[in-house]
Amino acid sequence: MGFIASRLSRIKPSPTIAVTAKAAELRAAGRDVIGLGAGEPDFDTPEHIKEAAVEAMRAGKTKYTAVPGTIELREAICAKLKRDNDLTYTPDQITVGCGGKQTIYNAFMATLDPGDEVIIPAPYWVSYPDITLLAEGTPVFVDCPGSNKFKLQAEDLEKAITPKTKWVVLNSPSNPTGAAYNRAEMKALTDVLMRHPHVWVMTDDMYEFIVYDDFEFVTPAQVEPGLYDRTLTLNGVSKAYAMTGWRVGYAAGPVEVIKAMNKVQSQSTTNTSSVSQAAAAAALNSSHDFIAENNRAFKERRDLVVAMLNDAEGLTCATPEGAFYVFPSCAGVIGKKTPEGNVIENDGDFVTYLLETQGVAAVQGEAFGLSPYFRVSYATSNAALEEACKRIQKACAMLL
Ligand SMILES: Cc1ncc(COP(=O)(O)O)c(C=O)c1O
Repeated sequence: MGFIASRLSRIKPSPTIAVTAKAAELRAAGRDVIGLGAGEPDFDTPEHIKEAAVEAMRAGKTKYTAVPGTIELREAICAKLKRDNDLTYTPDQITVGCGGKQTIYNAFMATLDPGDEVIIPAPYWVSYPDITLLAEGTPVFVDCPGSNKFKLQAEDLEKAITPKTKWVVLNSPSNPTGAAYNRAEMKALTDVLMRHPHVWVMTDDMYEFIVYDDFEFVTPAQVEPGLYDRTLTLNGVSKAYAMTGWRVGYAAGPVEVIKAMNKVQSQSTTNTSSVSQAAAAAALNSSHDFIAENNRAFKERRDLVVAMLNDAEGLTCATPEGAFYVFPSCAGVIGKKTPEGNVIENDGDFVTYLLETQGVAAVQGEAFGLSPYFRVSYATSNAALEEACKRIQKACAMLL
């Protein structure tokens, strides 16, 4: 027996972090690499949020906080959920962790027993299956192909539910596709869930504010109040507020589950940084005008990338409702040969070809559970995106 615990053999390191690291490595070796793998905005955290952090430090808010987070932050979260989502929560129904990722980890560690099933629509954010597996649960994938705009269909959800189903994970707008459920689409899913009272909903609303073209964001417990008692609403400040490095995510839900999550956190990180919590409270409580400004830039980039990728031979790219990703199909290049004579057999081969010949780093769809696709993050400058898309067009044109 090796020294490393066998539970680790069930999971893999994050493939998106791996692509970012590979791009950095090539860049350090002198290659001209454009990274389209990053899952974070290129914008800086707004000044007023940084100021709140400095003020907190000066005021001596540099000690441990309560495990679920400071009362100021939890009150700000309750106010946010009321204001933006028409959901009523009290601070004891809120837990704050080190990023959205830790709150998901805490939730699964707190609720999954071996054999419990977690329904995960595919394509999915890479961490859902691996956190499920770490917590000894069983991921149950439901295909959401491009022909369904990458969205879970009511009948497919219904078919996937078994007596062992504990959670269904919904993520809208989605990483990696940017697809988001409108009210009618969400209602179709919540109607199914109303018929299965043993199934809980984990809704990951991390990209709530990053939506375009007047899209109206909705969250399950808002669309179907009957699900309130078995919904965990997850959110955070990482994406919309450009605060990925501050590590603040939160969950709202029934007290029993929140308490269990706090128990997990009390034996791991205790609390996220006190200074970050002060910054997050300021972010939630102050003007959100900068988000609209950032979204205007993101929308321009989305439109640029979608148009240019659709002009690449063998690629087709849908226009998503939100987030800062597109998920083009590369079905039209599969089976073709590179100038060196290598056959592109799958999306992994295609992204390797892009990286090696053009210095463009994207992530293969296989990592997110749906092939043949790849994910492009457009959270980078227009100039870099334009150059990257030109290189992708060139790479496609060179295939035989
Ligand atoms: C869908 C989704 N949920 C959660 C997270 C985690 O965010 P955080 O940085 O707050 O842990 C991410 C980050 O990439 C994400 O894409």
